[in-house]
Amino acid sequence: MEGINQADLFSTIFKFQKTLDTIPDSLSDLLASYSGIPKDDQLNHIINVRDGAYDVYPYPCLGGFLFLKFNLSSHPSYQDHVLTPLRQKSPEDTDEPLFLDLGTCFGQDLRKLVYDGAPEERVWASDIDPEFIKLGFKLFNDAEKFPKDHFLCPGDLLSKTSEDRLGVLDDKVTIIHASHVFHLFGLEEQKIAIDRCLRLLKKDTGKPVLVIGIQGGCTIPTAALHTCTPKYIHNEQSWQELWHEVRESDVWRDRIRMLEVKSELQKLGVEPGTELAWQIFEVWVAFT
Ligand SMILES: C[S@@+](CC[C@H](N)C(=O)[O-])C[C@H]1O[C@@H](n2cnc3c(N)ncnc32)[C@H](O)[C@@H]1O
Repeated sequence: MEGINQADLFSTIFKFQKTLDTIPDSLSDLLASYSGIPKDDQLNHIINVRDGAYDVYPYPCLGGFLFLKFNLSSHPSYQDHVLTPLRQKSPEDTDEPLFLDLGTCFGQDLRKLVYDGAPEERVWASDIDPEFIKLGFKLFNDAEKFPKDHFLCPGDLLSKTSEDRLGVLDDKVTIIHASHVFHLFGLEEQKIAIDRCLRLLKKDTGKPVLVIGIQGGCTIPTAALHTCTPKYIHNEQSWQELWHEVRESDVWRDRIRMLEVKSELQKLGVEPGTELAWQIFEVWVAFT
């Protein structure tokens, strides 16, 4: 594998699979009990929806069925820092905490969160492409029960203004989830996306707010040469430096009191000699 660009390797490893052997139990249980889709019908149903989405855009996470795993509930901080606070009633009956899934695609992590007991009124999602949201309602068979207006679409993470639907949550969100999203962008775009997250976060909570997720990573930070996804993958240090660089910009320098960027690389170990990993991250921000 020496000499092959590591970021380009992702799409080789997670290439299009026509079908799948098993559906993870967590998804299968949710499809059966929440969506009312019998276990025997689930395989065809998933493949049918996935094929439609892959025609919209051939993301490796669609081609390689990565979306079957709930990224959010698999995150080590899910119970303590996402689910538990969302399930607790806030004493002043405010709308805090408020959760937003950025680049939600089918909205699988949002459905799982509600299935696990988070109140619907506190969970939101957004995406740039309405087709994925529509296909999410098809996948989960819940157009009649899940609030459509909690999907803010189009919401462009790379917009420097707040003119799209995402703008309604500016200064309101206390927990942002963004899995397989930042690596879609090159370094300069990632800074814009970080700035967009900071604008969405609630500033006057008196305590740190959170951005969490998982993305492609690598022991050596790498930009892709040929493929469009992922475009740039980080190690722990480069990811941390990127956030601090945005923090030091004129807009945020005096407005951020604390920034803690934690991440861990879990090596994929799929091909000998590759340095590819999943980067699991947690970013805590406190504003002045
Ligand atoms: C690879 S999918 C990841 C979906 C999901 N978060 C997951 O973990 O399975 C990336 C998603 O980001 C969305 N996306 C791409 N560019 C975007 C942008 N500029 N702003 C917001 N969402 C974007 C895509 O439409 C797609 O649904």
